[in-house]
Amino acid sequence: MDIQRIRQKAIEDISAAVTAEEIFTVKIKYLGRKQGEINLLLRALKDFSEEDKRKSGPLIQQLKNEIESAILFREKELNANNANIDITIPGKKIDYGHLHPITQTEDDVRQIFNSMNFSVIDGPEIEDEYYNFDALNIPPNHPAREMWDTFWIQSNKKDGAQNKRLLRTHTSPVQIRYMETHKPPFQIISIGRAFRYEATDATHETNFNQVEGLAIDRNISLANFKFVISEFFRQFFHQKIVQVRFRSSFFPFVEPGVEVDVKLDNSRWLEMGGAGMVHPKVLQGVGYDSKKWQGFAFGFGVERLAIIRHKIPDIRLFASQDLRFIKKF
Ligand code: PHE
Repeated sequence: MDIQRIRQKAIEDISAAVTAEEIFTVKIKYLGRKQGEINLLLRALKDFSEEDKRKSGPLIQQLKNEIESAILFREKELNANNANIDITIPGKKIDYGHLHPITQTEDDVRQIFNSMNFSVIDGPEIEDEYYNFDALNIPPNHPAREMWDTFWIQSNKKDGAQNKRLLRTHTSPVQIRYMETHKPPFQIISIGRAFRYEATDATHETNFNQVEGLAIDRNISLANFKFVISEFFRQFFHQKIVQVRFRSSFFPFVEPGVEVDVKLDNSRWLEMGGAGMVHPKVLQGVGYDSKKWQGFAFGFGVERLAIIRHKIPDIRLFASQDLRFIKKF
């Protein structure tokens, strides 16, 4: 009987079929009604003796079942592979999210100062009046407080008047918190949100971000600051050289105080933020010997850095949630 040979050949044919047409041809070859191998076998049965019929009939039937299910299996397999894929259809673009331009800016700022040995530290956004003002040499009722329009937080009775809370108007209170708990020398930066109770326009937001810097050591001068900040601008704006100038200014927690301007290529001077030598009163307030230790501090707007880098016309775009803007970065 040919059963063994046919089974063997069928298995080979089925696994050799790699397309729907090929497996269809195999199907006709074995299961076809007229010339299919199985039907030829069954038709040949009629010439067999009764005994042979009884023996071979079920074997042929079994072979038929085997071939049927093997073909079905192969058909499914091929279908799964090809699953009617039309390879001419253009692919779907996957929409990846990405970091917000402010986050990108902050990451760069951190990385650059890190490379100059500054540690990155954090402070609370809800501050005590003491850290935001008093410890920075801005006593109650001092007119300098007018420089920072403040969101005051209604205090509950338990806190008492001593501990009035506010949304920090700058990141400078982080300087105090750090100095209270660390001994010099050190150099740190802190990046985070600040809040001002004022009207918004193209260059002002009620909620913005600042990068605060503080370096305390022996024999530090504004010259050290000028070097550090020039190096920062050079790297941040991808320039070979930058020009930096200081204009005399006033902040109660520094003496002298300056405004820092930068000049990129042949543009005009751009105002970057405030800085100065930490006021001796501030140093004494945290228990440092101000004869022994000096340092510089600075506070720049993160949005301002991003605005200059990318030539952005309006600070309010950052929080606008307008994807046409966000997707440009
Ligand atoms: N904290 C100041 C501000 O927000 C900036 C500043 C920081 C000035 C450190 C001097 C030194 O206006």
